[in-house]
Amino acid sequence: MLVLGVETSCDETAVALVKDGRLVRSLTSSQAELHSLFGGVVPELASREHYRFVGPLFDKLLGDSGVCASDIDAIAATRGPGLLGSLLVGVAFAKSLALALDRPLIGVNHLRAHLLATGLSNTLLFPALGVLASGGHTLLYWIKSPDDFETLGTTIDDAAGEAFDKIGQFLNLPYPGGPVIDQMALGGEPSYDLPRPYIDNDNLDFSFSGLKTAAIKIAREHKDLDIRDFCASLNEAIADALAIKTERALERFPAEAVWFAGGVAANNRVRKKLEDAAERRGLPFLVPEKRFCGDNAAMIAYSGWLLAKAGKTSGLDLESIPRGRKIPDDYRKVIDLDREAP
Ligand code: KG4
Ligand code: ZN
Repeated sequence: MLVLGVETSCDETAVALVKDGRLVRSLTSSQAELHSLFGGVVPELASREHYRFVGPLFDKLLGDSGVCASDIDAIAATRGPGLLGSLLVGVAFAKSLALALDRPLIGVNHLRAHLLATGLSNTLLFPALGVLASGGHTLLYWIKSPDDFETLGTTIDDAAGEAFDKIGQFLNLPYPGGPVIDQMALGGEPSYDLPRPYIDNDNLDFSFSGLKTAAIKIAREHKDLDIRDFCASLNEAIADALAIKTERALERFPAEAVWFAGGVAANNRVRKKLEDAAERRGLPFLVPEKRFCGDNAAMIAYSGWLLAKAGKTSGLDLESIPRGRKIPDDYRKVIDLDREAP
């Protein structure tokens, strides 16, 4: 079964093809340079750029892969959470294709897709503890199947990636700060004393805003700040905050594996600390390839494939769901695509 994935939830326009669970090709057009002029994503500009790029990117995807539109068996698109105007562009594009080609449409939850992307290069093991750390979200999930995710914990303020980006902005680093801080930390020592906030409780939630305030205060006080050491210290603090709650969750939930995904999963130090946490409990640690940690459409096409296999599709009345609203479980369980695929 050949599944097209369309991703337009934030500032990356992306399309990809997955055939029988394996990636055929993935294309991403990033708007990061445009938004960096403003120090963050400007929603109106993001929607316009998606509108400009999604069609040509789809044409290029077909050309590069030697595939005709009519070869596609199902069309998956990110339905949320994300910027509403941006989501609407991708979902409308996917609906038009579904209608024109007479193929099923599958609305995909962007957050779940980040974690399911681990399946592009690993065998997915269930039940799993899923750790998602991106620019907008920090979540712990108990995952029983590709379509059964229970939220165990979330951030009460900033997301992990947001903390990286806001501190990076204060340090005058290019936007987004996360990857730059990761690189700068490679030559540094974690010698600055940063707090590990929101640890002295017994819940599975996160908080990063206190760390952000403390980091900015320290950076301001040290006129001779060693930027490499400071970045290494920051990596360590964020990695610890994530690892401590991950270990706590593993004490309570009998997971078969730990999955780690989202933009922050590309961070060398954070990745290592979470891997160590899983290893201490003898559990496999599944992460997507680095190129599929950030926003991409391979994860959408792959999730669409998993859902289609389970017979779950969406109607043309599929709604786009902005950040902050719960995504409904409104799949129609109507067809067995495996049987119907040509
Ligand atoms: O998953 P993602 O691409 O988009 C969202 O859905 O938010 O995550 C983007 C976030 C940004 O905050 C970015 O700074 C962070 O992931 N990020 C990193 C790294 N690469 C991306 N943070 C730390 N280290 C990295 N290597
Ligand atoms: Zn994302």
